[in-house]
Amino acid sequence: MQTKILQEKEIQQAVQAIREGGLIAFPTETVYGLGADATNPEAVKAVYAAKGRPSDNPLIVHISDEKELLPFVKPISPKAQQLMDYFWPGPLTLIFELKESDSLPSVVTGGLNTVAFRMPDKAITRELIKQSGCVLVGPSANSSGKPSPTLASHVYDDLSGKITGIVDGGACTVGIESTVLDISNETGLPEILRPGAITQEELELVIGPVIVDGHLVDSNEVPKAPGMKYKHYSPDTPVIMMPSDTLSSWQTASREYLSVGKRVGILANEMILSQLMKDKDDHLVTYSLATKRDVTQAMTHLFAGLRHLDHVTPKLDVILAECYPEIGQGVGYMNRLKKASGGHIYLEKK
Ligand code: TXA
Ligand code: MG
Repeated sequence: MQTKILQEKEIQQAVQAIREGGLIAFPTETVYGLGADATNPEAVKAVYAAKGRPSDNPLIVHISDEKELLPFVKPISPKAQQLMDYFWPGPLTLIFELKESDSLPSVVTGGLNTVAFRMPDKAITRELIKQSGCVLVGPSANSSGKPSPTLASHVYDDLSGKITGIVDGGACTVGIESTVLDISNETGLPEILRPGAITQEELELVIGPVIVDGHLVDSNEVPKAPGMKYKHYSPDTPVIMMPSDTLSSWQTASREYLSVGKRVGILANEMILSQLMKDKDDHLVTYSLATKRDVTQAMTHLFAGLRHLDHVTPKLDVILAECYPEIGQGVGYMNRLKKASGGHIYLEKK
């Protein structure tokens, strides 16, 4: 199969493919999703196969209008309605109780009695959903194990030949996957299962107390959101987190590797990059996460930076990546960076 890159004006081709049970990658504000008709179990199975994704990991269903929820979920609670009014369309996924156990194919829900929904903030993708006449599953459109795609070209690198087309909507503005909030248990507190650009603090301003899980589960534990499994995605090149943001510690770390002939990638803001580049070492390759120390900008460019540095030739020996304090959006950023690095932190030699 030849995978087509479709421009927005070619959306009819994407609509046609979805209606025929085909796979179309679509842009969202977070990352690109791999779309298929959520009510067609064969199409959904093909999504898992194209990604090489374990099928115990349930999918998010994407809608273009709140009304599209109604056939699938129990009556909407006031809290859910407030969240939808405030944050949709946007990077927030809500977990609802399924209306009936067979309201959606079990390949979508992983056999759970709950289902994840989100309304993406990208008009062309809402148009795709609307015109297809069905709701769409949309896991990130990467091969399982790779960082999520934030450009159409990332999707092409991973899935070319395996899917019908990719709707090119340019670069994703948020850059990491949506915040997943479980509101399915009406007697308990809403719980963040995956941190994202919408923070705990923002959610609490709208609906009051929210609890956070979000910890990295070890291999013996059954995760609540299966996608939280440890080291879910990462580049092939080892990634090491730089705990300190002082220029001297970055210099010490990069020189330590360079001095023994290693090739070093630096993923950091431009203040750090400009300082390190003074060393003029051709074993040093940089990628800018942000013009200054700013977690929102860094989040937007994190996955693109990991992919870029992973594909440098000849291959890098190590990627040193900037950390942020785990508050606000720093929680979501660090969650992804910890997975990419497998938790490896740079320790300065005394
Ligand atoms: O930003 C996003 O959410 C992107 C874009 C394309 O919309 N999509 C995305 O989908 O990240 P995916 O499939 O890669 O991640 C879905 C996450 C997983 O962590 C999964 O375990 C969790 O949502 N999930 C889905 N259904 C669930 C459910 N019923 N209960 C708990 N967690 C669920
Ligand atoms: Mg994913």
